[in-house]
Amino acid sequence: MILPSPLPVLRTERLVLRRPIATDITDRHAIGRDPEIYRMLGADIRGLSPLTEDQARAWVESIVAHPAAWVIEFQGRAIGEILLDNFVEADRRAGLIVGILDPQALGKGLGTEAIRAVAEFAFDTLALHKLSMRVLGFNTRALRAYERVGFIREGLERESALIGGIWHDDVIVGLLKRDFDALRAEPKGPAIPAPALRS
Ligand SMILES: CC(C)(COP(=O)(O)OP(=O)(O)OC[C@H]1O[C@@H](n2cnc3c(N)ncnc32)[C@H](O)[C@@H]1OP(=O)(O)O)[C@@H](O)C(=O)NCCC(=O)NCCS
Repeated sequence: MILPSPLPVLRTERLVLRRPIATDITDRHAIGRDPEIYRMLGADIRGLSPLTEDQARAWVESIVAHPAAWVIEFQGRAIGEILLDNFVEADRRAGLIVGILDPQALGKGLGTEAIRAVAEFAFDTLALHKLSMRVLGFNTRALRAYERVGFIREGLERESALIGGIWHDDVIVGLLKRDFDALRAEPKGPAIPAPALRS
């Protein structure tokens, strides 16, 4: 997969998706670790320790080191990250990973906005055919956000994640270019009924 270098900045109505800058370390450190968000990311939140400055720096460095990762910037501050990963060139597909880490920024449609922008880049610039992701079955907010972009629930992997001593199912969702094209052709965005992805 030939990625453009540098990775382009992606702009949406309210977000800038861009490569890291020095102030991202301070922003990441200020956000810290929200237990609910970490639970959605599959962490065992028992004994979750505060984020150190070194860990904030490591977070930024991991984005710098990744060829297809963007910092999600909202109102001039870094609030999370989004990336394309696990490219399978022969099948023109990749995985998508997103994490808004600032609890104040959740549930405002920002995740949907970021995922849409990266899906557009994946299909229009990289000419991918498909994006997939694995989501914890209890992460209903994420499932709904993916559904809004056009992701379809393709499968369920039973008890694939052991979190805090409890087994959880993973839901596999996928977005074909034609699914995305059909939704973006609609004048007012998706009108899929909410229960379509829910288990
Ligand atoms: C998943 C994520 C990117 C979604 O972004 P977001 O900006 O929070 O979500 P949006 O506001 O775009 O959309 C959320 C949808 O879920 C609904 N929703 C919000 N909170 C919800 C909740 N607690 N439970 C169920 N649905 C919820 C919203 O109403 C909205 O649906 P609607 O447009 O039909 O009303 C973001 O929440 C996130 O990064 N969370 C933490 C990490 C994570 O879960 N990453 C994904 C791992 S696979």
